[in-house]
Amino acid sequence: MPKIYIKSEDGTTHELNAEAGQTIMQIATINNIDGIVAECGGNCVCATCHCFIGEEWTEKVGGPSDNEDMMLSMVDLRKDNSRLSCQVKFTEELDGLVIELPETQY
Ligand code: FES
Repeated sequence: MPKIYIKSEDGTTHELNAEAGQTIMQIATINNIDGIVAECGGNCVCATCHCFIGEEWTEKVGGPSDNEDMMLSMVDLRKDNSRLSCQVKFTEELDGLVIELPETQY
């Protein structure tokens, strides 16, 4: 089964099974990963599912939509590789994807 790797702020790396069509937020919350709050349930209106795409994966994952970009502008810890995890859909091509979590979602 394809995998993603989520690195928590405390240095722990979680290896998770991933299915095409799931969002990174869904994969994280199904697996009870701390650090993804996802208050709006994936509707791109809360920005509490902020994550960083592993540097080597940014091109494959691509950038945010205009709406996501607007939500990301409200995030304090935004970086060039920031995305909202509810807006990143896993595909087979992303097998091995590395995601890092910010120290806080607020
Ligand atoms: Fe609310 Fe992603 S879960 S913006």
